[in-house]
Amino acid sequence: MKVKLRNPERLVDVPGPVSVHQMLATLDINPETVLVIHDGTLVTKDHVLPDDARVEVRPVISGGAGPAKCTHCKAPSIIEIARHRAAYCADCFTDHVRAQVRDAVRRYDMMSYDDRILVAVSGGKDSLALWDVLLDMGYRADGMYLGLGIGSYSDNSEKIVRDYAEARGATLHLVDLAGEYGYDIPQATGLKGRSSCGVCGLSKRYAFNKVALEHGYDVMATGHNLDDEAAQLLGNVLRWQTPFMARQSPCLPRSETMAKKVKPLYRLGEREMAAYCVIKGIDYVVEECPMVEGNTVLRYKDALNELERHSPGTKGQFLFGFLERARPQLFPDGDPEGHRLVDCAECGMPTTTPPRQEAAGTEPVLCAFCRTRGRILQVVQKAAR
Ligand code: FES
Ligand code: ZN
Repeated sequence: MKVKLRNPERLVDVPGPVSVHQMLATLDINPETVLVIHDGTLVTKDHVLPDDARVEVRPVISGGAGPAKCTHCKAPSIIEIARHRAAYCADCFTDHVRAQVRDAVRRYDMMSYDDRILVAVSGGKDSLALWDVLLDMGYRADGMYLGLGIGSYSDNSEKIVRDYAEARGATLHLVDLAGEYGYDIPQATGLKGRSSCGVCGLSKRYAFNKVALEHGYDVMATGHNLDDEAAQLLGNVLRWQTPFMARQSPCLPRSETMAKKVKPLYRLGEREMAAYCVIKGIDYVVEECPMVEGNTVLRYKDALNELERHSPGTKGQFLFGFLERARPQLFPDGDPEGHRLVDCAECGMPTTTPPRQEAAGTEPVLCAFCRTRGRILQVVQKAAR
């Protein structure tokens, strides 16, 4: 059926027949805040709406976009989340964030209270909020920070992460990219075929995984949120990068050489994570990474935000629909290209063989990290001469 919603006005599809009550629950609408109109008459919650019904859900709270009171406890609200058609006071908002994390953990069986969890913390809002939520919920969560060598941006980030860990009495692993691997992110600029952000992401994934394995962590958690994941998906869909789509999941299982990877914030938006930090008084790096320029993910985020502004919930439907319906159908057994995994000749981590080498079969195979690192070190050495 077609359901017309207001503020902003939009039409959404809901499969029928369903009761008014169920329809509102599906749309995450508080029945107290709306009237439901079917064929020009008001209907109550047990009324069954056929599949071909045209229904209007009309907000009854005057004054525009939404209620000024917390949807849960009726205290004055401090934040509205259009996607949930809800407003929250500070306490109920914190509960909402935890509930979304709990939901994510349950859906994907991400972790248990016995697991030792390593949180990748950058000093930004998402990773610090994630660490905070997990600690508050009683998980055994330690942090890891990777020093990227990006001038004052990195210095500032490291201080914020150290201060947070100290204030919470939490364990923090500090790794310095230059100290450990011989290069920093600014030295990786100008590499053919890989942006510095690309090198940064590759280095982070590699270093976090290494620490997780070395210290025997059961799970590695990152602060990727709904906006990050939806933007990633949009990028992958626009280029039909099916191997990436197959691997895009809030939970990737453990293998012999890869720690289990989870993204407990994938149901929460960027704005929610920033609000969480403000409410909890968590100091985070607000400034953007100076190397971020030209990062295409930001353009995808802009595009999705524009769509979301006109119809709240679009981002969530795009991502959750992919994860829950499309991905299991399209990629029932993971990687569609069925790459063969071999050990990297340099570091021993698993890697897929590039097709050319598969044919030759003789050359030693290096993982993407070791290949990239080798190229950066060459540039660094040349510059030093
Ligand atoms: Fe990685 Fe900016 S944080 S390039
Ligand atoms: Zn390697």
